[in-house]
Amino acid sequence: MKNQPYRILCVCLGNICRSPTAEVVLRHYIKENHLNIVVDSAGTSDYHIGDLPDRRSQKHAKKRGYDLSVLRGRQLSPYDFIKFDLILAMDESNLAAIQAVYNTLNDLDRQQAKAKINMMADQAIADPYYGNEQDFESVLDQCEQASQVWIDFFKHERIG
Ligand code: 4NP
Repeated sequence: MKNQPYRILCVCLGNICRSPTAEVVLRHYIKENHLNIVVDSAGTSDYHIGDLPDRRSQKHAKKRGYDLSVLRGRQLSPYDFIKFDLILAMDESNLAAIQAVYNTLNDLDRQQAKAKINMMADQAIADPYYGNEQDFESVLDQCEQASQVWIDFFKHERIG
């Protein structure tokens, strides 16, 4: 029987700009490297549940060959700490919000919650929502750089 995949959840505030971008970019690198890892994304807020990714994120991603159009916004749930192995925050404020959701888990749930929480990249990936075209390009640049770093880590640790 095939091994269970390693599961990663990318998290930002709205789940329409940064985390959908991170999801699709990281998935691309994982596929290229033939790793048994699945990727999803979520937002800490309920602002954009069911929404398409921001059209600017879709446009800039498409220029690099990434398709965000099948994704829909969803909110981080306490169950995600049980379902996923690794939760990646785009910035420090996301990290704090993720921790706050973890803190709502009871003792029984915490025994099952296996997710490690980390930052997607060394430097925070800035929210481009009120930004310009270059800010959306920077999100893609950072997601591509960070994905390569994670791939190197997964290979080194024999994950996936
Ligand atoms: P994201 O960007 O967290 O990268 O998806 C944002 C999208 C929407 C909002 C904020 C950030 N908003 O306030 O609606």
